[in-house]
Amino acid sequence: MKRRTVGILTFQLFVLFAVSHLALPSESAASEEGEHDVELADYMSRVQYFAFKLGFAVQANNQALAVFYTEELEEVLEKVMKIEEYEGIPIGAKAKEIIEPLVEELERVVAGGEKQKVQAAYDKLLNGCNACHAATEHGYIKIAPNFSTNPFLQDFKP
Ligand code: HEC
Repeated sequence: MKRRTVGILTFQLFVLFAVSHLALPSESAASEEGEHDVELADYMSRVQYFAFKLGFAVQANNQALAVFYTEELEEVLEKVMKIEEYEGIPIGAKAKEIIEPLVEELERVVAGGEKQKVQAAYDKLLNGCNACHAATEHGYIKIAPNFSTNPFLQDFKP
């Protein structure tokens, strides 16, 4: 091995070591606060993000993009369904009961591609968000459709 390669390898090992050790304190801090508290807020902002983008895709009648965002949304919601509780409030069970069937319905109609049905399923999904917020002591977080202005650097048209 050339000296330079050894030097680079040593540096990489050093970086790995530093990163793994730097990562430790924040991880343990997160679990002290309650890992799931951190995760739930993080999941929710991603849920909102994908649900928002999905709305623009639905509005623009862009089936491929709507399928994509439905899948992304479902992935995050599946993680939420695995959270047993948060501040003593059951989360996973409520998410399963309220939102799972609505996401499945949305997935089905999005695959069919009929705009009116997709829009109806999208509205039902957002009602489901509110139903779960109400059921988990966060009824003051009200979700409503918003297609007025596209704030993203993204064209949602097919
Ligand atoms: C388990 C039921 C449940 C479901 C289903 C659910 N939420 Fe939430 N959501 C919560 C809880 C609990 C909080 C409060 C989290 C906290 O205190 O950190 C929250 C917080 C939020 C917030 C506030 C955090 C932020 O980033 O501003 C938004 C927005 C949000 N949810 C959007 C949604 C949307 C959109 C959906 C539906 C696609 C949805 N939620 C579905 C339980 C749920």
